[in-house]
Amino acid sequence: MSSKLVSAHRTELHSANNVWAEFGKLAAEHEAINLGLGFPDFSPPEYVKQALCDATMSSNVLLNQYTRSFGHPRLVQAISKMFSPLHGRTIDPMNEIIVTVGAYGALYCTIMGLINPGDEVVIIEPFFNCYEPMVRLAEGVPVFIPLRAEKATLVSSSADWKLDPEELASKFNIKTKAIIINTPHNPTGKVFSRAELEVIADLCKQHDVMVISDEVYEWITFQGEEHVRIATLPDMWERTISISSAGKTFSVTGWKLGWCIGPPHLIEGAQRIHQNCNYTCPTLLQVCGTSDI
Ligand SMILES: Cc1ncc(COP(=O)(O)O)c(C=O)c1O
Repeated sequence: MSSKLVSAHRTELHSANNVWAEFGKLAAEHEAINLGLGFPDFSPPEYVKQALCDATMSSNVLLNQYTRSFGHPRLVQAISKMFSPLHGRTIDPMNEIIVTVGAYGALYCTIMGLINPGDEVVIIEPFFNCYEPMVRLAEGVPVFIPLRAEKATLVSSSADWKLDPEELASKFNIKTKAIIINTPHNPTGKVFSRAELEVIADLCKQHDVMVISDEVYEWITFQGEEHVRIATLPDMWERTISISSAGKTFSVTGWKLGWCIGPPHLIEGAQRIHQNCNYTCPTLLQVCGTSDI
């Protein structure tokens, strides 16, 4: 690639020059706890490790070979069984789920598969580091809106960080293709309330906008908080891709396994990228623990 092309991409993406890289370096230098791109420093549960051992030692030699591009049938069936009641609908394991290389892969396939050049994508600040560069890679246009503290001097909980509904509405227009939401939220820990999600959902329906819902911390909420899936709000299923991470859920971030759930017309775009980018995810990681091996 010519140096002109390389530098054009690099200046747009500010790869090393972001808050995550800076604080990651500072945390390592000062031996501080990094609350950004975090991972547990303790062992995953024994049953998780044992499941991978069992899969590895299985007499089924095919578990060491490539599997179905969009997810091993046993895993997508297990995801469907788990998430169908949570979504209040039957999720079709073969057409409404893709297993990806972590939630990162799910975000990448969704954004690259569904955002066209010039499409605007609303991103809530502060945000997980990859949203902006992925939107730019797709030649989309990030449109930022900050969470604002209600009382600037007295932030007692992450719930005090809120979107201003009027400011949010001002970000939507004819070019808006998607909004990326992340609840529970990294880095604040905020769990978006049903009422807050309804405001976002209403705008999406009004302007025909899709939601990319990053829910990797879906099982980590503070006591008393309810994790609301925006896809379950009225008429939101057809415009939402929900993203999960097995790495976060089972304390195995290094396994890099995640998935997208959504309606076929949205999943199809993400499938095209996944199929031509990673093609498939590791078979052993997908089958371990799903049923008899
Ligand atoms: C909000 C958020 N989304 C996505 C990811 C990536 O998840 P995965 O490790 O499954 O790719 C992370 C990882 O820290 C995250 O914090």
